Amino acid sequence: MTDKERTDLIAAASKAREHAHAPYSHFRVGAALRANSGRIFTGCNIENSTFGLTLCAERVAVFKALSEGERGFDAVAVVAETERLTPPCGACRQILWEFCRDAEVILANLGGQMTVRRMSDLFPDAFDASFL
Ligand code: THU
Repeated sequence: MTDKERTDLIAAASKAREHAHAPYSHFRVGAALRANSGRIFTGCNIENSTFGLTLCAERVAVFKALSEGERGFDAVAVVAETERLTPPCGACRQILWEFCRDAEVILANLGGQMTVRRMSDLFPDAFDASFL
């Protein structure tokens, strides 16, 4: 990924974050996923009054892409308004590992700070299809 590609992915995630439905936590998250085809799919967190049905921004982006026939992704950006950059939750890590494998994970905030991780660092010793 070039710096420009990372910046573009962060911008897409920031824009998606504006659509977050987070009336309970008030914690708004945006995600943007880059497919190997070059297409970018975005997501925001969508909460529910039952709480347990809440979907994270990352999973919304992955499921949107998968449902449009995309397979194979090389990077995902996650944007929230936190000083300590917000990483994907455990459930999202499992889903990202299944579909994005060792993709680049770009964590960013609205203040222009960003860091780059790898899924294999965020999710070591993963359970996956290789055990089945
Ligand atoms: N959330 C995300 O969308 N992605 C993350 O990486 C962390 C958490 C959402 C879920 C919930 O709507 C809110 O943030 C607070 O947990």
